[in-house]
Amino acid sequence: MKIVHISDLHFPCKLPALSLRGKMVAGYANYTLRRKNAHPQQITQAMLDFIRQSNHDILVISGDLTNVSHELEFANSRKILDPVLDQRAFVIPGNHDRYHKKALQPEDLFLKYFGEFSGESIANAGYIRVKKIKDMAFVGWDSSKPGSLFQASGNIAPDVVENTKKYIKKNKIRNYFLVCHHPFWNPEQHRESNNHRLQNREMIIESLRDLPPEIVFYGHSHHNWISKKTSEMPFWTINSASSSRVNDKKHFSGIHVAEFKNGKTGIERYTFSQQGNRFIKASLIEY
Ligand SMILES: [Fe+2]
Ligand SMILES: [Fe+2]
Repeated sequence: MKIVHISDLHFPCKLPALSLRGKMVAGYANYTLRRKNAHPQQITQAMLDFIRQSNHDILVISGDLTNVSHELEFANSRKILDPVLDQRAFVIPGNHDRYHKKALQPEDLFLKYFGEFSGESIANAGYIRVKKIKDMAFVGWDSSKPGSLFQASGNIAPDVVENTKKYIKKNKIRNYFLVCHHPFWNPEQHRESNNHRLQNREMIIESLRDLPPEIVFYGHSHHNWISKKTSEMPFWTINSASSSRVNDKKHFSGIHVAEFKNGKTGIERYTFSQQGNRFIKASLIEY
């Protein structure tokens, strides 16, 4: 099975100033000053071309499609991604897609625009959405909820972990893959602050130990890396944030392609090259 993973697309989108409320004002100003030029259209176009030519079985998008969860941003990202959104797409939300309460109420804007690519909900409460492929499954979690301006941390309720494992056992899933916006682990040089990290990640890793996924796909921290299965963390982790971003000293951007075959995982990384305006094979950033 060939899995293409992209994350943290943060598509630029011009918003009418008068339509911004509360936290969105500062968030949009920050985005306009700091982020807007970091996601140029030519990289997005090359990313879409790469995906369309990749002959993948599943496209995983691990959140942060928008910047301040404005409805125009959701409509814009849906339109941009249209060429690669088909029955193979599996999309989850990130903290920027849950930026303020109105992004969820009265209507969940993420689900309004991406619900048909988010899998089937298997939970009465909480977010557990599943895309089953033969005897394998992709499980999406939502680690974000609206918070204050400086808060970008995540959390997963213990019930979500337990109900996921129950589903895997009950449905005799042979291998499963988790998709969650916040990293389960960071390399030393990319440590996240308390206001940015998945707060209960140690508990989650511990709870998954008796029924681990094959790979956990995430984003949020805008620098690519992968980590191998170890006894402490018995699954691969892949961070593809941010796939639509320019490379610089602090941000190594790209797309990962994972191949799961005969019980084994192989991973490749691709990054944007200005020569030829396309994604080319690059070395893995491995810990
Ligand atoms: Fe992000
Ligand atoms: Fe994020």
